Amino acid sequence: MKIYGRIWKLIKPHTPIIIVSTVILSLVGLIEGLIMLMIKPIFDNVLQKNVNTPPPSKFKFLYDIFHLYGDKILINIALALLILTLIKSIGNFSSNYLIIRTGQKIIRDLRFKIYSHLLNQSVLFFHNRSSGEIISNVVNDVDKLQNAFSRTIADFIRQFFSFVALLMVIFYIDPLLSTLSLVIVPTVALLTNYLGKKVKKHTAKSQEILGKITSILQETIIGNRIIKIFSMERFERNKFKKILSNFYHVNMKNGFISSINPPIMEILAILIFVPFLIYAHFQINKGYLSIGTFTAFFASLLRMYDPVRKISRMHIDFQQAVACSERIFNLLDTKIEVKEPENAFELPKFSKNITFENVSFKYGENETWSLKNINIEIKKGEKIGIVGSSGSGKTTLVNLIPRFFDPTEGCVKIDGIDIKGVKIKSLRGQISMVTQETFLFKDSIKNNIRYGKWDATDEEIKLAAQKAFAHEFIEKLKDKYDTVIGERGETLSGGEKQRIAIARAILKNAPILILDEATSSLDSESEKKVQLALNNLMKDKTAIVIAHRLSTIKSSDRILILDRGEIKGEGRHEKLIRENHIYKKLYKIQFEHKGEENHD
Ligand SMILES: Nc1ncnc2c1ncn2[C@@H]1O[C@H](COP(=O)(O)OP(=O)(O)O)[C@@H](O)[C@H]1O
Ligand SMILES: [Mg+2]
Repeated sequence: MKIYGRIWKLIKPHTPIIIVSTVILSLVGLIEGLIMLMIKPIFDNVLQKNVNTPPPSKFKFLYDIFHLYGDKILINIALALLILTLIKSIGNFSSNYLIIRTGQKIIRDLRFKIYSHLLNQSVLFFHNRSSGEIISNVVNDVDKLQNAFSRTIADFIRQFFSFVALLMVIFYIDPLLSTLSLVIVPTVALLTNYLGKKVKKHTAKSQEILGKITSILQETIIGNRIIKIFSMERFERNKFKKILSNFYHVNMKNGFISSINPPIMEILAILIFVPFLIYAHFQINKGYLSIGTFTAFFASLLRMYDPVRKISRMHIDFQQAVACSERIFNLLDTKIEVKEPENAFELPKFSKNITFENVSFKYGENETWSLKNINIEIKKGEKIGIVGSSGSGKTTLVNLIPRFFDPTEGCVKIDGIDIKGVKIKSLRGQISMVTQETFLFKDSIKNNIRYGKWDATDEEIKLAAQKAFAHEFIEKLKDKYDTVIGERGETLSGGEKQRIAIARAILKNAPILILDEATSSLDSESEKKVQLALNNLMKDKTAIVIAHRLSTIKSSDRILILDRGEIKGEGRHEKLIRENHIYKKLYKIQFEHKGEENHD
């Protein structure tokens, strides 16, 4: 029930428009009823030799309104039909337009809300979800909801009024016959409902298979080199063929239903028509019924088919919309974990130190501690190296400084101020980060560098690129700084991408610098250049450097050794290599590796 309340909340601001549309649609329904009634004078007067038979009292009002008497009857009926249809069309158009507009507005706001919500989520949120899942939420689920809002709601209101108007018409013409024929309505409703459900089931299956097809296609595109090197083309082709054949069968089941549906309906219509024909024959012979009245009645009855069919199927659309909104609301309900308090203040310019006070951290309630009781002080201007085996908590430790997530226990302070209390922007504005995986946007190189300082001039951008040793290779590209980086940054080497990321950080010129294995994935040739770029970046900064290769941090002012989430020693390289067995071990492993490399 809660979910309906929330859906209602989305619609509520638009109630005036919806009410206006509803009123218009009820008028449209009335006019439709009138048009159906016009069949009577058409058949009994216009299409007869004896034009001037007086109408039975029941229909007198119709003849009076449109003045269907004498010589003018033909022109008046034509005019009446024209005007009624015109009004009906305008009504249909305006109500449809209004409802679609409302639906689009609701959806636009909802998408924006979800996106803003996503931007505010902590790093962990994205860690624990696949991008496909999130994208499907924002794109597909919202799309289905949009359908429900604009199409289903508009359709429902229209069909409902149409149904009511037609019902009024047939009961007005012949209450007894109407009651009898209404037995048919549930039959038609049940049948179409049944077929509709089948279609929905197969459609869902078909969608699911389409999802698989998309993912295979995606894998083929992204993993094409792997497929080639393992000569797996045949395997992939067969896999694809099988799934296509599956897709074909499911779609054909739907094809069968959509092909069998119209003939069944036609047969049903004839079966209904025959008894009516017999009844009408005797009634007309006896003079109880005119041809026009009968035709108006029967035409109205047939016209009820569409509303009945659509209304009886509508709940399926609606259920789907509810399921989608459930997923959307779930996403919107995820708590924003890293929040700034109401009374957050600007963090003053970094001037003294960063301290970790009794910091412990775990990723989830049931996880083990990734950091245990960390107490460190990093002074302004210091160059700190952090070493430790993979999984020892290095990344976790540095991610606490820009508040990618918060400590489970203890606190992180900058210049003695708990960073939880300050404006997040003022905190992150003072930190630059270069990580192992560089992310570049699918945009020009210029804009990628400018991401560090959006109002930077071309000159500043160039200067930053020069300091990052990136200017030279950028100049060699076809469009230079305007080169758009290809999908997944494929057109640049790892080292080049990294230097662009460094240029970005240089431009940002933040006092605190975090380097998380910035050179780890590079070969030694590009590592050298990146290292030179990093040295430029680190000048006059407070730097925390996580390095895979100890050579890069040997000259740090201080090295911290992290082991299974705990600090197990700190000091300069010369001291640690003498006294710390973990450091000695790490150093020895690298030294031995170097030895092996040399042998090759
Ligand atoms: N998103 C995550 N969810 C759960 N556990 C994680 C997550 N990220 C890292 N961990 C765990 O936290 C510990 C420290 O990881 P990390 O800080 O990445 O180590 P390092 O950077 O030193 O290799 C590891 O045991 C790792 O399995
Ligand atoms: Mg790491």
